[in-house]
Amino acid sequence: MENIIASAVSQVGDTHHEAAPRRSPPGSFVIFGGGGDLTRRLLLPAIYNLACAGLLDDGFGIVAVDRADLTDAQLRDNVRTALEDFTARRGAEAVKLREDVWAWMLPRIRYVQGDFESMQTYQAVADVTAGQNCIFYLAVAARFFGPIVDRLGEAGLVREGPDAFRRVIVEKPFGHDLQSAIALNTRLLNTLEEQQIYRIDHYLGKETVQNILALRFSNGFFEPLWNRQNIDHVQITAAETVGVEQRAKFYEGTGALRDMVPNHVMQLLAMTAMEAPISFDADAVRNEKTKVLDAIHPLVPADVVRGQYAPGMVGAKAVPGYRQEPGVDPHSLTETYVAMKFGIDNWRWAGVPFYVRTGKRLAARKTEIAIHFKSAPYALFRDTPVDKLAPNIMVIHIQPTEGVTMQFSAKIPGPSVRLGGVRMKFDYAEWFSEGPSTGYETLIYDCMIGDATLFQRADNIEAGWRAVQPVLDWGQDARSLAFYAAGSEGPEAADALLARDHRHWLKIG
Ligand code: BG6
Repeated sequence: MENIIASAVSQVGDTHHEAAPRRSPPGSFVIFGGGGDLTRRLLLPAIYNLACAGLLDDGFGIVAVDRADLTDAQLRDNVRTALEDFTARRGAEAVKLREDVWAWMLPRIRYVQGDFESMQTYQAVADVTAGQNCIFYLAVAARFFGPIVDRLGEAGLVREGPDAFRRVIVEKPFGHDLQSAIALNTRLLNTLEEQQIYRIDHYLGKETVQNILALRFSNGFFEPLWNRQNIDHVQITAAETVGVEQRAKFYEGTGALRDMVPNHVMQLLAMTAMEAPISFDADAVRNEKTKVLDAIHPLVPADVVRGQYAPGMVGAKAVPGYRQEPGVDPHSLTETYVAMKFGIDNWRWAGVPFYVRTGKRLAARKTEIAIHFKSAPYALFRDTPVDKLAPNIMVIHIQPTEGVTMQFSAKIPGPSVRLGGVRMKFDYAEWFSEGPSTGYETLIYDCMIGDATLFQRADNIEAGWRAVQPVLDWGQDARSLAFYAAGSEGPEAADALLARDHRHWLKIG
């Protein structure tokens, strides 16, 4: 059986390689916040990786826009350093920067110094991008999204010509609640057409997140079982071991719920629960995602647990609690963990709970979706030593390992009927060899070729916020904050949320 699977899978791999992607169209990639952290850590390495893969046109260029006083030459030095720091590893192995690729990139990097609010900056951008295709990437603090798009509009920079597209990529956070997300959408849509806006969620750049749809809809044996007749419940986990790091200023006003749930976690939920789209066309996919998020029924307080990490041990290292972190209010009520039970009111999912949890300083870094199937009828085993049947669980591992495991029961060898839980595992890295990736390559490349499937439409974003808005409306209440030791599985209240339904979480660590 393994051979059959092997040959089928390698055929899929071959098909993938035969249909080599085409080169991007020529044009300027203009990064507002071109000197910032996101640009250095992720955007530049992603562009370098696309260049290594031969996917960028010779007419491609980077224009970094930022406030610091730099010359083109100084910026180029900074880019080189960023590439050496952030693309210099493939797993444990050190990788040297490819000098041929760097020589190709170097003359294609320009710097525009200026304030994001000043029209002079936009005039300078217009001068270096005249007549070209342009992608404007907003790698800036959220308060600049509206003003930058307004100015781009006033400067005539988003007017598309017959041969020149103008697109804007907007980073997260897209709003801080439903109302502000609607207001931001309205503001952007005053200047731009919906199809010019690419709202990014970096989770959609992860191969394994994209694989959820491939797994569900390209295999005959999953989809017939993918419904309330066969599935008992679903658990979605996005656990991190890191704490708030240097981001207290941002995180204090944001918290785990806003930071992770309406965006990343909702994307995982939508991919898992959506109906099959009629095609891979961007709007067909996004229609189905919005439909399923719109079918989530309103949360009630009993279905939500907010937690905050207290001092504890992450691995062998003692770490402070959230309230002791630099820049955090010692009485902070900001949650660093949230667990929730969602119900989806449609024919496929009525009565099947979707439990989600996400948090910082947990026992392990792990993002996964666990589909718990209903147990088989027990009757046959009545007169055997087997006292109950374990449920079948399919786990889609998003990170750090990428793959799928199936858990089921098998007979333990021997004269009596005894069952043991066994596991079958598909590991991405074992089957497919892919080049180094930051997760942004696909997203940047898709924007270049005008494919918005992996980006969020206005209604997707709003549906994500609508699902969590009740929790934001309740406000932060000291009594509703459950503490958990750093490095643990999360607060006990989250265990109680499932125990109430006679279920338990899969272990994180
Ligand atoms: C970001 C959040 O969007 O996602 C961070 O702002 C979080 O707080 C990060 O750490 C998690 O992303 P990943 O790709 O490391 O799972």
